[in-house]
Amino acid sequence: MKLILDLDTGIDDAFALAYALASPEVELIGVTGTYGNVTVADGVRNTLALLELFGRPDVPVYPGPQREDFEVAEISAFIHGANGLGEVELPAPATGPAGSAVELLIDAVHTHPDLVIVPTGPSTTIAAALDDDHFAEHARIVMMGGALTVPGNVRPWAEANVWQDPEATNEVFRRARHVTMIGLDVTLKTLLTRTETAQWRALGTPGGTMLADAADHYIGAYATTSPHLGGCGLHDPLAVAVAVDPSLVECLALPMQVDVAGETRGRTIGDLSRQGPLVNVAVGVDVAKFLGEFMTRLTRLAANT
Ligand code: BDR
Ligand code: CA
Repeated sequence: MKLILDLDTGIDDAFALAYALASPEVELIGVTGTYGNVTVADGVRNTLALLELFGRPDVPVYPGPQREDFEVAEISAFIHGANGLGEVELPAPATGPAGSAVELLIDAVHTHPDLVIVPTGPSTTIAAALDDDHFAEHARIVMMGGALTVPGNVRPWAEANVWQDPEATNEVFRRARHVTMIGLDVTLKTLLTRTETAQWRALGTPGGTMLADAADHYIGAYATTSPHLGGCGLHDPLAVAVAVDPSLVECLALPMQVDVAGETRGRTIGDLSRQGPLVNVAVGVDVAKFLGEFMTRLTRLAANT
């Protein structure tokens, strides 16, 4: 399958990228850069640096649009570090960004019938691509975002990616015909601990050390913000894993909407009165199978980079 990732490259976005690169089923034809954990520019730089670390500088990275009033939130900088990668410093990338993210997405859906798009940040870039009717009709999207049956993580009702641009995610739910939502309902069941990151550190490779250092920062932040969980949420890599193997999750098919006004702004909710496409909302996940795949794939990549 061909894949495009739309990343706001923080720590779990880096895991999503690593999962894609480590998956023999996947041909990663490009990455688009959005904002959220970091600015578009910093996220693109992080992605380019990670692609070089993981031996894939050939994968092009396309910057997307950023909301004009965007500033990195304090909580994002705390969880992902000021540089988005838990203060892990990577060499400045030798390659620069490619062309327009929106054009790439529209062209790729026209060209590749087996393409899946995995957005793991705010929906701003995907919503812009929805101006193209063919994209809206044919794009297969497996997105990380939202919370149907559990509370939000940045507001009582709102998950971080949707909270950044609720109108954009509402457009995705309203217009795109093939959407799977991987929200906090499932991603907060898939947790990583220091027991696993020690395996990466023990490899003694640059790739293993980078993953371990970034993950330990992320686990430390979760220990402060969500001590009851006992680990950090593997939000973004779970979306990639579901794109590769949809049987990892159980879904409800619902007409979804995002509240865009009032105190529930950013809430993702089923609305049976709504006409329009059904969204597959993941409500169950095979935790053991996913964690097994996650560790096998990322450890293999880290051992060789
Ligand atoms: C989402 O918000 C970001 O901080 C993570 O990278 C993930 O995409 C989880 O709510
Ligand atoms: Ca993300």
